[in-house]
Amino acid sequence: MVYLANETRYDAMTYRRTGRSGLKLPVIALGLWHNFGGAHLLDNSRAMLRRAFDLGITHFDLANNYGPPPGSAEDTFGMVMAQDFKPYRDEMIISTKAGYDMWPGPYGEWGSRKYLIASLDQSLKRMGLEYVDIFYSHRPDPETPLEETMMALDFAVRSGRALYVGVSNYNAEQTRRAAQILRELGTPCLIHQPRYNMLDRWIENGLTDVLEQEGIGCIPFSPLEQGILTNRYLSGIPADSRAAVTSSRFLHESDIKPELIDKVRRLNGIAERRGQTMAQLACTWILRLPVITSVLIGASKVSQIEDIAAVANQAPLSGDEIRDIETILKG
Ligand SMILES: NC(=O)c1ccc[n+]([C@@H]2O[C@H](COP(=O)([O-])OP(=O)(O)OC[C@H]3O[C@@H](n4cnc5c(N)ncnc54)[C@H](OP(=O)(O)O)[C@@H]3O)[C@@H](O)[C@H]2O)c1
Repeated sequence: MVYLANETRYDAMTYRRTGRSGLKLPVIALGLWHNFGGAHLLDNSRAMLRRAFDLGITHFDLANNYGPPPGSAEDTFGMVMAQDFKPYRDEMIISTKAGYDMWPGPYGEWGSRKYLIASLDQSLKRMGLEYVDIFYSHRPDPETPLEETMMALDFAVRSGRALYVGVSNYNAEQTRRAAQILRELGTPCLIHQPRYNMLDRWIENGLTDVLEQEGIGCIPFSPLEQGILTNRYLSGIPADSRAAVTSSRFLHESDIKPELIDKVRRLNGIAERRGQTMAQLACTWILRLPVITSVLIGASKVSQIEDIAAVANQAPLSGDEIRDIETILKG
């Protein structure tokens, strides 16, 4: 059936400016790391992408290696792009990255110009796109000069393959240097994609200061700690959850620790008093920081995207609520 985007898609979502750039992003963005690869049901992936766009989620985040198998999330996105999204390309922000292991040999990972540009060309082909909106260096490379990696990002923009560039998993000092090099090259660093959630707060120790000073946006990944900061594990480990699925290399049943779930249960009490779900509270808590542009979620079901998109219209946390959350997190 021909896809026609919901006419009311921009009514309920809110958009924040990305650092000091001209680009606005939805406060909720959808990532395709899990559940969009060749090993997953295309119908479900397609339904999630369509529903997200219908809810005003204009930003879709990919990387060369998302799948499994690696590359297949971009293939899936390319199929949906061709079948459903083509008329809406100018309404979308599509990002991809290169940095992790993608193909054999010395040019298949890290931060060389050779790898980054070859990988971006492959990504464009898989997604059937002429350009991506944001191209990221997925991780810092301890061996390649930072100047080379940043020059490759600058070249991606100058050659028309990308509109903006960003970095991911760079620490505060690496980010400051990357921003300086990019500024000198004339292609500002748009955005940083770090890991950040209630249980992993490393960015508060220096990185957020750098982002504010440099005018760089921030889009945290794994805001729900891969599902732990939701109601998913409050009464056991569901068979279809990420922790139970054996193909998941990054979350295991052993990560669902009773003391952790007890903490989530107490946080969930605050969520319930606010009329929110636990997942919504976890996202609202991240959005309390002005430096945050967008919260980058993952999902396995349409209903999860609907749940979290509603955050855009929910009240921010009060000072008392932030303090109560802090007490639970420190306990
Ligand atoms: N730059 C990087 O190095 C990097 C690394 C990791 C991720 N990322 C990006 O960040 C995105 C998000 O990462 P993530 O998937 O780890 O994020 P996450 O949002 O912390 O976890 C997503 C999982 O949480 C559960 N969930 C989501 N919404 C829910 C809801 N409303 N109620 C209950 N459970 C809910 C689902 O688990 P179930 O599957 O169990 O249903 C879902 O798969 C990725 O897709 C990718 O784009 C980037």
